[in-house]
Parts: sequence; C-alpha cells; structure tokens
Amino acid sequence: MSAFKTLDDLGDVNGKVALVRVDLNLPMQDGAVTDDTRIRAAAPTILELSEKGAKVLLLAHFGRPKGERVPNQSLSMVVGAVETTLGKEVMFVPEVTGDVVKQAVGILRAGDIAILENTRFWKGEEKNDPELAAAIAANGDFYVNDAFSAAHRAHATTEGLAKVLPAYAGRSMQAELEALEKALGTPEKPVAAVVGGAKVSSKLDVLKHLVTQVDHLIIGGGMANTFLAAKGVDVGKSLCEHDLTDTANEILATADGAGCTVHLPYDVVVSKEFAANPPSLRTCNVHEVAADEMILDAGPNAAETLGDVLKNCRTLVWNGPLGAFEMEPFDAATVALAKTAAALTADGSLVSVAGGGDTVAALNHAGVAQDFSYISTAGGAFLEWMEGKELPGVAALEV
Ligand code: 3PG
Repeated sequence: MSAFKTLDDLGDVNGKVALVRVDLNLPMQDGAVTDDTRIRAAAPTILELSEKGAKVLLLAHFGRPKGERVPNQSLSMVVGAVETTLGKEVMFVPEVTGDVVKQAVGILRAGDIAILENTRFWKGEEKNDPELAAAIAANGDFYVNDAFSAAHRAHATTEGLAKVLPAYAGRSMQAELEALEKALGTPEKPVAAVVGGAKVSSKLDVLKHLVTQVDHLIIGGGMANTFLAAKGVDVGKSLCEHDLTDTANEILATADGAGCTVHLPYDVVVSKEFAANPPSLRTCNVHEVAADEMILDAGPNAAETLGDVLKNCRTLVWNGPLGAFEMEPFDAATVALAKTAAALTADGSLVSVAGGGDTVAALNHAGVAQDFSYISTAGGAFLEWMEGKELPGVAALEV
C-alpha cells in the first residue's frame, strides 16, 4: 500500500476550513434516515477536526440526481440525523461553491460544522470537472476524504479536490485502507475468501482476481450452482447461469494453476419452492438434487468442512452469503460459518474482513458482525477492491 497522509499529519487547523468528503448516501424511508451507520463511520473524523478548531464543511452525494436539483435528494434531509449522531448542531448550506458558501464560512466559528448541498446536483461532479473542483476548493484550506465507499468514483469531490488542495485520509478511510491491506495487500497466509451471492455474472472479476490471490476460495449462494453445473452436476431448477459454465470452468482452471483450492458444497439444502420452512425441504448430496428441486443453501456437512478450512487459515475476506439467508432455514450455513469465523477471530488466529451490504446484513443476522476484525461499510468500492482495481479516490490520496 502506498503511503497517504492522515489527520496526524495536520498542523494547526484552528480557524481553517476543512472540506471533508463523507458518504451520506443514506437509506431513507418517508423522509427519515433508517440507518446511520455511515454517519457513525464519519463521526470520528468530523468531531476530531471540529475539536481541533477547524470549520468543517461536509461534502457528499445523495442518490443519483444526474446534475439536476432534485428536491427530495437534497442533503438538507439528512441534517437532523447527522446532528443526532454527532450530538452537535449542523448548518445546512444549499450550494457547494461561490458566495453562499463563502458567507457561511464567515458565519461559522472555529469548530462549527456545515453540510453543503448534494454534490451531484452539479454536472461537473460526476464528470470530475477541474473547474468545479477549483471552485469548491476556493472556499477551503485543506481536503479530507473519509468516504471509502465512494472512492471507486473518480468525481470532483472524491478525486479532483485531492489534486488542488493538501489532501488527507480521514479516520474511517484510514481504518478501511489499513484493514484491506491486512486482508489482501500483505496478508498472513493461508488466506481464504468467501464469495457468495446470487449471480456469477455480478462477481466475475472478483472471482478471477481472487483465485490468483488466495489459497482457498469458498463459493456459495446461487453462484455455486453455476460452478456445480460446470462440473457436470444436475442442479435441477436451482438459480444457475448455464451460459456461464465455460467461464466457470476457466476460473476453476486458473485457480488450479495458481494453487488456489476452490470449495463448493457437496451437501445442499433443497426445496421445491422458495418459502420459509417449506414442506418439501430436505438435505441431500449435490448429486441427488431432483429435477423439480432448487438448491437454497449449503448443507451442514459442507458448513462444517468450510469451518475446518477457516481453522487452518490466518486471513479471511468475505463477500456474499452462502445461501438464501434472508429466509429460514436457508440462513443456516452462512450463520454457522460466520460464527466459526467470529470465534477464530476472537481467539486471535484469524484476521477477518467482510464487506458489502448483503454480507453485513448476513453477519448482523448471525449476531457476529462486531466480532469480525473489520467490516467495510462500502458496497461497490469493496467489490472493486476485491477485483484488484485501483480506486481513484484512494489513488488520489497517495503521496
Ligand atoms: C454507495 O452508496 O455505495 C456509495 O455512496 C456510492 O454510490 P453510487 O453507487 O451512487 O456512486
């Protein structure tokens, strides 16, 4: 990992204006924020800068308004939630550049916090327009990026600003980069990866990259069915991308050449219908799936064997559930393996890093999210990192 500056490298910031990119792309229902995880992630950076006496201007996007002012995507809607989480008053500024922002900076006292309007109301944001970056920078003294989850976007406030102002990683960005470095940059070996979810097609690049990086690749969810089908297994009416079986075989061949062992379930939980605790529920060998059945989870023997794989590993990266975990009992394998990973982490024998919306939901459901070494709040950025791609927002911070 290349070096980047952190808040520890800041000199005296008392009275200076910090432009802080955070991720306030928050889930909302009926005008209210339903999950403040991302606000809590940015809080340490915001409060540290405020305590050091900086005037903190928060920059963030909300939804995809595509360069138009869309009233129900105004960041004014999240001000209350941010105030509640921070325990501090927050001013709202309905612009990102110009005199309105300048006047707000004049009103703010050292340590005060303001949220500027949704950066995506300006077309230049997603185009990474240097003019927009320069106009935003004109009202600030330095730039802090604390939005790892938006770092896969090369936008004016995620990348451009780092080129025109002294740039620092915020505490959440710093923690994320350090955890990811431990997981795939310079990990302790052996390394295991769990990749689950419905479709191989959505994670093709992740799988292709990981087989060259890890010692054990555990494939779960619907995507395991495509690999089973590629190996000649009849998966009945399971979710399966039959058109990708050649690709699956290529990935298996690459894994073989790279010394990566790919683990697929050999017992599975099947049912004729996708419903909670259906009457047709049964567990069987993968070779015994009937034509009218679908695979909905890895079986108990597979879950136990996969747990044994983790016992022999020192590092784990996890993205995606092993089964249809949102419906009982198809959560069983995911919950069992998550509990094993959490216990090994608590014992100090495993560094466990997980990311992605579904994954975090699955680990919360298993009640073990807090026991993992690190949980990333990022979705798309976490996946692109797992693909081995350089993230523009991170690259721009490198010194
Ligand atoms: C996210 O919610 O994953 C990030 O904020 C990025 O949002 P985007 O996919 O709209 O760029």
